[in-house]
Amino acid sequence: MDLEQLAALRTDEGAAALDAAGRVAGGDPLSAATALRAAGVPAGLAAAALTQVELRRRATGKFGPEASGMFFTRPGLEQATRRVVADRRARRLRAAGVVSLADLGCGLGADALAAARAGIRVYAVEADPLTAALAGANARAAGVADLVSVECGDATMFDVTRVDAVFCDPARRRAGTGRRIFDPNSYSPPWDFVIGLAERVPRTVVKVAPGLDHALIPAGAEAEWVGVDGDLVEAALWCGPLAEHPRRATVCKEGSPATHEALVGEPSLHRGGDAGVHQLTGSGTAQAPVGPVRRFVFDPDPAVVRAHLVAELAAELDATLADPSIAYLYADRAIRTPYARCLEVTDVLPFSLKRLRTLLRERRVGRVEILKRGSALEPERLRRDLRLAGDQPASLVLTRVADAPTVLICQPVA
Ligand SMILES: C[S@@+](CC[C@H](N)C(=O)[O-])C[C@H]1O[C@@H](n2cnc3c(N)ncnc32)[C@H](O)[C@@H]1O
Repeated sequence: MDLEQLAALRTDEGAAALDAAGRVAGGDPLSAATALRAAGVPAGLAAAALTQVELRRRATGKFGPEASGMFFTRPGLEQATRRVVADRRARRLRAAGVVSLADLGCGLGADALAAARAGIRVYAVEADPLTAALAGANARAAGVADLVSVECGDATMFDVTRVDAVFCDPARRRAGTGRRIFDPNSYSPPWDFVIGLAERVPRTVVKVAPGLDHALIPAGAEAEWVGVDGDLVEAALWCGPLAEHPRRATVCKEGSPATHEALVGEPSLHRGGDAGVHQLTGSGTAQAPVGPVRRFVFDPDPAVVRAHLVAELAAELDATLADPSIAYLYADRAIRTPYARCLEVTDVLPFSLKRLRTLLRERRVGRVEILKRGSALEPERLRRDLRLAGDQPASLVLTRVADAPTVLICQPVA
């Protein structure tokens, strides 16, 4: 899409083309284009409308029903923050007293919109003219245009004295190729600028890749890792007075209701105010105690593991590690927690393909899910080598116990 096509899509004729595209999209793209042309939609507009409808469909996973009125490019959508994460961040900023925010490198505006929805005045800056136009269009579509001004320009030139907080989500993909950038020095705006923002505006938040090296976390900043339905989606650095704890793991459950009562009558570990959002905090330096494999194994959410909060979770679950360097926790009781999956361990075997195969055959196990930490085995290869035949399910946990390769045969906790 280019600026001209975006402008065309935002006319009445464009809206009609988008409606028509919505009715014919989803099947064969050529037939859809032919149907639009037959309905009198010019070729260029038909192509733009069909692409937009397809991007809106994909964007529903990130934005929910709101996606149907937004405008996207593929790279803009890929880099955009999901709504559940952006809204929570915005509410936290607002709760910290932020009333005006610069969004430096706003992309198509997912974070800017969330901040505006939380009642914050947003000054958004975006270097790419089309993406800046998308952000403006999206602010209008979301009904928050009065709170969001979008400027097309270089974020490094923005006068940050105009705002009381700054958010920066630097581009971590190469323009053109879309390839991921792993070296923060190659981010855009560059890392030195991004990380130096906190010296100019104490209330700075920086969104970073979840693989961020802990050594890059500035002294005194809070580093937060965010998981959504088991996927690690991002990390953020909360600077200055916004830092509340050294480390935080935020676990969002989009797909399931926020009912996290305990099993076996234990108290719930549900924390935090937002429905479906759970937050575990701590120092990031504590060590969990080590002990034997016990009746239940917990597989912590990747946000908890990346935030180095396994010891804090162990304390909540009254659990221990079986190996100091492997993040599986073991406990005598099953407690339902948003921060980990719980499985009941039925067998603990030193790893041997032959023994495992024999045992699974005896149990008529035909379907296995394979989890692993601290094992070099390739799950798909193991699955093939097991040559399973049967109708029973099981979970296999490949790990190390007292430095020995070990497999745990498990069942999900009802
Ligand atoms: C990761 S995206 C932002 C996504 C946004 N937070 C969202 O959720 O929609 C980063 C954006 O920064 C923009 N950008 C990169 N360098 C910039 C600069 N120096 N000035 C302004 N924008 C810049 C890129 O064009 C890209 O759209």
